[in-house]
Amino acid sequence: MLETERTILRPWRETDAEECYRYAKDPRVGPIAGWPAHTSVENSRQIIRDILSVPETYAIVWKETGLPIGSIGLHHNDLAEGEDEAELGYWLGVPYWGQGIVPEAARELLRHAFEDLSLARIWCGYYDGNVKSERVQKKLGFRYQWTTDAVPVPQMGETRKGHVNLMTREDWLCSH
Ligand SMILES: CC(C)(COP(=O)(O)OP(=O)(O)OC[C@H]1O[C@@H](n2cnc3c(N)ncnc32)[C@H](O)[C@@H]1OP(=O)(O)O)[C@@H](O)C(=O)NCCC(=O)NCCS
Repeated sequence: MLETERTILRPWRETDAEECYRYAKDPRVGPIAGWPAHTSVENSRQIIRDILSVPETYAIVWKETGLPIGSIGLHHNDLAEGEDEAELGYWLGVPYWGQGIVPEAARELLRHAFEDLSLARIWCGYYDGNVKSERVQKKLGFRYQWTTDAVPVPQMGETRKGHVNLMTREDWLCSH
C-alpha cells in the first residue's frame, strides 16, 4: 500500500467492481487509453480479476470517501521489456479530473519504482490527441523519445499514432 496527501494506492479487490464500473463505463475514460468502456459490474469484476489483480497495479482510493476512483500501475510490455524497467499507466474517473490527482499518485508510484523497486527506466506513452495525458507526463518530468505512426491498439482493433516518453533513474534523482 502506498499513500499520498489525498489518496491511498492499494491492490484492486473484486468487491471494488461497482465503483470500478461507475467510472470505467464512461466512454471518455478507456477508449482514449486503448481499452473499451466496461459494459457491466460483472464485466468490471472480471477485469479486476483478470487484468487489474497483478503486482504493482493499484486502485487510486480517494481518502475522503474510502472508495476507488481510478487506477495506476507499472507494467512490463513491449516498451518495457527489461527487469529494471516498466511502463506507467493510469486512468481516473471523470468527476475527479483536473485536480492533479493522477500526477500526485504518479509521483508516489515513481518514488516507489526508483527507490523501493530500484528500477532504472520508466516509460510512459499516449496516443496522439490525448492532451490531458500528455500534460500529466510533462508535469511529471517525462522526456519525449519518439513517435510511431501506426501502433497496434489490439483491444480497440485499430492502429494509432503514439508518442513515447521516458524518465530514467538519473532524471528522477536530479529532480529530487
Ligand atoms: C489523463 C488523466 C489521467 C489526467 O488525470 P488528472 O488527475 O485529471 O490530471 P490533471 O488534473 O493533472 O489534469 C491534466 C490535464 O487535463 C486537462 N483537464 C483538467 N481538468 C479537466 C476537465 N475537467 N475536463 C477535461 N480536461 C481537463 C488539463 O489540460 C490538465 O492539464 P493542466 O494541469 O496543464 O491544466 C485523466 O484525464 C484520464 O483518466 N483520462 C482518460 C484515460 C487516459 O487518458 N489515461 C492515460 C492513457 S495514456
